[in-house]
Amino acid sequence: MNTWNWLSIETARQKTASIGDVVEHLLRATEVDGGTAFLEKIPDVPGRDVSLILSIRSHPPKPGIATTLGQARMLHDLGNIELQAMELAVRTLAQFPEAPPEFRRELAEVAIEEARHFDLCLNALDELGSPWGSWPVHRSLWDMVVDGDLLSRVMIVHRYMEGSGLDAGTRLLEKLSGVKAPLAREVVGTIHREEVGHVSFGSSWFRKIARREGVDPDVYFAKWYPQILKAIPRNERPDYETRRRAGFNEFEIGVIETSFTATNFKMKREGPRPSLSMPGG
Ligand SMILES: [Fe+2]
Ligand SMILES: [Fe+2]
Repeated sequence: MNTWNWLSIETARQKTASIGDVVEHLLRATEVDGGTAFLEKIPDVPGRDVSLILSIRSHPPKPGIATTLGQARMLHDLGNIELQAMELAVRTLAQFPEAPPEFRRELAEVAIEEARHFDLCLNALDELGSPWGSWPVHRSLWDMVVDGDLLSRVMIVHRYMEGSGLDAGTRLLEKLSGVKAPLAREVVGTIHREEVGHVSFGSSWFRKIARREGVDPDVYFAKWYPQILKAIPRNERPDYETRRRAGFNEFEIGVIETSFTATNFKMKREGPRPSLSMPGG
């Protein structure tokens, strides 16, 4: 199986079932031929077995979180994030065969964990009676990840997107604590706990890669975080404690705080946004 085929697989369960094979293949391929056979095989869009919306505004309204349907919808939206996180990890493995082997091995583990997160959501959706495909999904994470160098990829996916995911997880658990939702709480709680590891992976490799490139990681973070926030708006109040546990230093926390204060947490998710162009793109 090659990467192009894996990313294009449409069936959700087939994709999670074969994640181990594709990452093993990518790690081995790099050792054998430098991974060059895989470099041109990233499809523009990954395969989907559910209908797609191109704008978050056309997403059907969310039922209240106190209802079973509302909890299913939330898990459906979360599953869609996990699916794209899994695919983005594979995309990075395929596009950066020259990345440090230890980075690639750790990223392969992240990809496998994202697949497990997606499976947790799929199983819970079946149990709640609203299986995968009950709602349309967006593809905004995949689309917003611009091609650039390895440092910019780690910054945007593991520090920005997954870092913001920690804030979202905390706020979601707060909402769920007020309602009867044992299954949803268990799934979101497990994912939130394990995501700290993914962001920690991003934090430590961000600094290692930056130093290797002769870049000051704090200067880079201060330059790019506000620009990414404008291009990919987030409205959740940051959870600084969880972010600290995931490797954000006090300087970075300060950058995040300043950026959010400047936007007053009211960023437009629709309409024209500055386009993002990262180093090496
Ligand atoms: Fe995840
Ligand atoms: Fe993750």
